[in-house]
Amino acid sequence: MTTEFTGLKAIVTGAGSGIGLAVAQALHAAGAHVYGFDIAEGEMSAVAQWIYCDVASDTSVRNAFEVVSETTEVIDIVSNNAGIGSIGTILDATSEEWLNLLNVNVVGLSRVSAGAIAFLRKSKAGSIVNTCSIAATAGLPMRAVYSASKGAVMSLTLAMAADFIGDRIRVNCVNPGTADTPWVARLLSKADNPTNERAALESRQPLGRLVTASEVASAILYLASPKQASTTGTILPVDGGMFGLRLPK
Ligand SMILES: NC(=O)c1ccc[n+]([C@@H]2O[C@H](COP(=O)([O-])OP(=O)(O)OC[C@H]3O[C@@H](n4cnc5c(N)ncnc54)[C@H](O)[C@@H]3O)[C@@H](O)[C@H]2O)c1
Repeated sequence: MTTEFTGLKAIVTGAGSGIGLAVAQALHAAGAHVYGFDIAEGEMSAVAQWIYCDVASDTSVRNAFEVVSETTEVIDIVSNNAGIGSIGTILDATSEEWLNLLNVNVVGLSRVSAGAIAFLRKSKAGSIVNTCSIAATAGLPMRAVYSASKGAVMSLTLAMAADFIGDRIRVNCVNPGTADTPWVARLLSKADNPTNERAALESRQPLGRLVTASEVASAILYLASPKQASTTGTILPVDGGMFGLRLPK
């Protein structure tokens, strides 16, 4: 079956697991070729070409684009998912933690996007979709450093959308609520009572459940689609209603 993604070429960071893996699966199923930038191949082998890339390193990102350039001069879609978390308030955060997390979540996203611009300029439908978070728009307890990084990703999305509109490269982001991925499974496994902690996360979202990785991927494909040629600089919540709704208990 031919789709609007058939024959397109996409870079998906963090494609080995969770949301990035779901994006790689959806793009592959829709007929795109996927380059998976990740520090680990994870589960991507059936749907993406793994290219080792540590988004925290200039050299690693440069090397990854050299590998891409061996097979294509054009990239149509960049889906930035690679990210790490941190738990605690500003009283817990060390300078090392701040710099490491911002380097991966913010500078890493910028490194990959900057490396991709020359390839995206050659596309008829160049598009970047950043995976941000509900943490950018809601104050969540014990997520100070992570939330700051996602606030930066949201603002950076708008700035990038403005900077590259002349190149017809669209830039948008999704803001997922808590999503059922290996990341959240790791977090829950460290909780004193994982069952209660999961129930608390579920009830925080008005739909009463966690978001699925494939729901986030579907929103990312919507924004990345050449059919959305007029959509740029938008922030799309995928959060079970957590951003917009206030329901009586
Ligand atoms: N899971 C959630 O509840 C949730 C909610 C909102 C936003 N997000 C965001 O979604 C994105 C993906 O999260 P996930 O839940 O799928 O996580 P995950 O841990 O399942 O997957 C993250 C992937 O990123 C890769 N990665 C980590 N550091 C990297 C680096 N330096 N260079 C390259 N790759 C690296 C990992 O190897 C892994 O494959 C993150 O940016 C996260 O902030 C997640």
